[in-house]
Amino acid sequence: MSTKDLTFAILGLGGRGNGFSNVLASQPELGRVVAIAEPDSEKRQRIGDRHAIPAERRFTDYTALLAQPKLADVMINTLMDRLHRPSAVPALDKGYHMLLEKPMATSLEDCKAIDDARRRNQAIVSICHSMRYSVIFSEIKRLVDSGVIGDVVSLDQLEAVEHTHQSHSFVRGNWGNESRATFMLMAKSCHDIDYIAYLIGKPCRRVSSFGTLTKFRKEQMPVGAPLRCIDGCPAEPTCPYSTFKLYSGPQADKNHWYSDHAGFVGKTSEQRMELLKTSPYGRCVYQCDNDVVDHQVVAFEFDAGITATFTMTALTHNGGRSIRVHGTKGDLTSYTETHVIDIHRFDDGRHDRVQLPFGVGMHGGSDLNTLRNLVDAIRSNRPEAVLTTTAESLASHTIVFAAERSRRERRMVEISELA
Ligand SMILES: NC(=O)c1ccc[n+]([C@@H]2O[C@H](COP(=O)([O-])OP(=O)(O)OC[C@H]3O[C@@H](n4cnc5c(N)ncnc54)[C@H](O)[C@@H]3O)[C@@H](O)[C@H]2O)c1
Repeated sequence: MSTKDLTFAILGLGGRGNGFSNVLASQPELGRVVAIAEPDSEKRQRIGDRHAIPAERRFTDYTALLAQPKLADVMINTLMDRLHRPSAVPALDKGYHMLLEKPMATSLEDCKAIDDARRRNQAIVSICHSMRYSVIFSEIKRLVDSGVIGDVVSLDQLEAVEHTHQSHSFVRGNWGNESRATFMLMAKSCHDIDYIAYLIGKPCRRVSSFGTLTKFRKEQMPVGAPLRCIDGCPAEPTCPYSTFKLYSGPQADKNHWYSDHAGFVGKTSEQRMELLKTSPYGRCVYQCDNDVVDHQVVAFEFDAGITATFTMTALTHNGGRSIRVHGTKGDLTSYTETHVIDIHRFDDGRHDRVQLPFGVGMHGGSDLNTLRNLVDAIRSNRPEAVLTTTAESLASHTIVFAAERSRRERRMVEISELA
C-alpha cells in the first residue's frame, strides 16, 4: 500500500464533522485536515486550531471552499441532509474523493445525480452507513455468510430510538421537520434498511409500511404548558424532556451528548439563559414544528421469497438495535448493544454464544473503520474496495423511498416502480 500522505477538507463542523476531525487528529497516519468550511466561528476556530489550518483555508460556507481550486484529496462531507447534492456533485466534478454522510440525499433524483457524478469522475466515494463498519454488525454478516444457520429465510430488526433521543433529534432538533431535513425512515433508519439489504444480499422486490406521529404532538401536552420550559411550566418537575434536565442543569453535561450538540456546553450561565429563551432546544416538545413519525414498520419481500420486517420506535426506555435472523439450519439473535450474538442450530440443538469486544471512539469505532476503508481504497486506487459505494447506497435508499411511498399511499409498493 502506498504511504501517500492524504489531505482532507471537511464541510460542516457539527456533531459529525467534529467527530471525523477528532478521528483524524488521533490517527495522523490516515492523513491531514487542510481546509474546513463552517459558518459558526467558535467551531471553525476550535477545529481549525486543532489541525493548525491557516486562516485563508478556514471558510464560512461550503460554496466558498468549492469556489477555490481543489484544496485536498478527500472531502469529508458532513453537511446537513439537504445540502448533500448541491455540495457533493460540484466537489466530485472538481476531482475530490469523498466520505459523504448518510442519507446520500433526500430525493431519489438527487441520489442518482451523486452516483452519476461519482461514475463520471471515477471518484472513490463512501457513504457513511456506519452499521456495516461496526464490530457487531460485521460479525453478524460474517456468521450469516458462513452458512452457520443455513440459507436465510426471514429476519426481523428493531431500532429502538429511545424517547429522549427522539425528543432531541427528531422533535426539537435538526430532523424534526421533514421540509428542513427528510422523513424519519430516511433520517434515522436508512442505516437499518441498508444493513438488512446487505445482510440478505439479494434484490428487494416489494415493501409495505405503516407509521405515524403519536406522542410528540399538541394533543399530548400537559395542561397549562407554555411554549418554552423556562416560562414556568407546571409539568416541568416531572417531565423527562425538561430543557433543564436535558440541556442546562448540572446533570445535563454529565449524562448526555445532547447538551453539547445543542450548544450548551462551555457556555456561561447568562449565555445558557439566553439559549433557554431562544434555542429550538428550549421549546416544549409537545409544541414544536415536528412532523416526522415516532414509530414505523416496514415489511419486505426479497428474491427467493425471503421476508424481513423492520420496526423503528421512539417509545423505548433505552436505545439500540435487536436482530433475529431465521435460516434453514438455525437462528441467530442479538441485542447488539450487549455485543452478544446467540446461535442455535436445529440439527443437534447446539447453542453457541459469541461475546465481542467493544470498540473505542465515536460509534464504537465505526467512524474510524469507515475512514480506514476509504483511505485504503484511495491509496490502492481500488474503488471497488469501498464497502458502501454510491451504487450500494442508491440501491438501499431506493428501498427506503419505496417504503415511505407505501406508508403515505397506504399500499404495497413494487421497487420496480421507482426504477
Ligand atoms: N452516520 C451516522 O450515524 C450519522 C449520525 C448523525 C448524523 N449523521 C448525518 O451527518 C450529517 C450532519 O449531521 P450532524 O449531526 O453533524 O449535524 P450538525 O447540525 O451538528 O452539523 C452540521 C454543521 O453544518 C454547518 N453548516 C450549515 N450550513 C453550512 C454551510 N453553508 N457551509 C458549511 N457548513 C454549514 C452547521 O453550522 C453545523 O455545524 C447529516 O446529514 C446527518 O444525517 C450521520
